[in-house]
Amino acid sequence: MTLDLAIRGGTVATASDVFRADVGIKDGGIVQIGLGLDAAETIDATGRLVLPGGIDSHVHIAQPSGDGIVMADDFESGTRSALFGGNTCVLPFCLQAKGQSLRAAVEDYHALAAGNCYTDVSFHLIVSDPTPAVLGQELPALVADGYTSFKVFMTYENLRLNDAEILATMDTARRTGALVMVHCENEDAIRYLIGRHEAAGDVRPSAHATTRPVAVEREATHRAVSLAEIVDVPVVIVHVSNGAALGEIRAARGRGRKVVAETCPQYLMLTAADLDGMDWEGAKFVCSPPPRNETEQRACWTGIEQGDFDLFSSDHCPFRYDDPSGKLSPKGRTSFRHVPNGIPGVETRLPILFSEGVGKGRIDLSRFVALTATNHARLYGLERKGSIAVGMDADIAIWDPKARRTIRHADLHDGADYSPYEGIEVTGWPETVIVGGRIMVRNGALAGAKGTGRHVPRSLSLLGVRPAAPA
Ligand code: URP
Ligand code: ZN
Ligand code: ZN
Ligand code: ZN
Repeated sequence: MTLDLAIRGGTVATASDVFRADVGIKDGGIVQIGLGLDAAETIDATGRLVLPGGIDSHVHIAQPSGDGIVMADDFESGTRSALFGGNTCVLPFCLQAKGQSLRAAVEDYHALAAGNCYTDVSFHLIVSDPTPAVLGQELPALVADGYTSFKVFMTYENLRLNDAEILATMDTARRTGALVMVHCENEDAIRYLIGRHEAAGDVRPSAHATTRPVAVEREATHRAVSLAEIVDVPVVIVHVSNGAALGEIRAARGRGRKVVAETCPQYLMLTAADLDGMDWEGAKFVCSPPPRNETEQRACWTGIEQGDFDLFSSDHCPFRYDDPSGKLSPKGRTSFRHVPNGIPGVETRLPILFSEGVGKGRIDLSRFVALTATNHARLYGLERKGSIAVGMDADIAIWDPKARRTIRHADLHDGADYSPYEGIEVTGWPETVIVGGRIMVRNGALAGAKGTGRHVPRSLSLLGVRPAAPA
């Protein structure tokens, strides 16, 4: 057999092992791991790390926001930015508008993605209108078609579900084996606090953080894990920002519940003080849950170090800052409550965790791979992704572990006009990125075409599969 491509002389890392080997690729898959491999084309990876391409299981691309505000990334720019950040697959959301069928939402997002992606993509669903038809027919059919996870929101006026709706949606997950992700913040409490702040004339971006305090997230996290316990389904708690919410998750696990926890770079690297910037600069950091303080950052790092977190995702949700159709719309300038929620970060996720986590001795390389690729694949049912092994897709990022960079938005590839991580110095950066056996980034330069990335249907999460009932 003649290999199409061999990556030679590098150090391969998986979620369990770190070893010197060549990786042989044919027809888009990994077919050999050995020494002295020869191929039609070779890449010299001496002194480099050969890692499974990053899988970012929480990104928002081309999702409409309220007030006519548009997201800064379409599928072309969003997946290009992901690619340059060492990712080979992203999981964005198909957002169901109220009154819309879920199937129509899925078709809309496929139309936006088709032919435009640099990485593979696989969609989660956002259930905003859980009618009996949606829960009884549409969702089970979509799960069977490979859309095996969906997100529900406890916050945002236009998206939130009440507890009865969350229970009903979780029950569909129970019946189908799909995985439910929950955004945990108590909308009624937030509304109350927003009312108080606006009445007192405090409309600045910093009030975004004070109207969404830890208690708002802790209460909702407690409720989400409890509702999942009542229905008896596993649950993913996304974008956990603080130690108290993590405590609710640990307590649920102590009761024997299957709870997966995700955190994001913003909760390790930013604080609420960032929302306090001059003029409306703070709007650049408006996301939910908001960044907290140093104590909560440490709590999140402890969760990374001790294994409480299984997923490290970006929650990439880009809006342009200096733009009337972005963070600073005319309405946005009247109150923080009209500043669209979300910050960019798909390109900087891996370098930040590599540098701050592996580089500073908080986690080892295998845990880095697990947190950024393998666990995303296993938990969300991407059977051929997330590891370097024979039979897997050839989705690979070759890293220069010594490259020193200062994060500058000018060097990134997304459609936003800023990075919340501007000026942060990191060591380690992806150099060459291979998607399905195709070299898409070579030595830091774009080498592949949009449209190479495909949609990947997913299997049921192993977490959701229930043992067969005894006869
Ligand atoms: O503020 C955020 N995180 N916006 C993105 C949507 C979400 O809640 O994940
Ligand atoms: Zn969310
Ligand atoms: Zn999100
Ligand atoms: Zn608004």
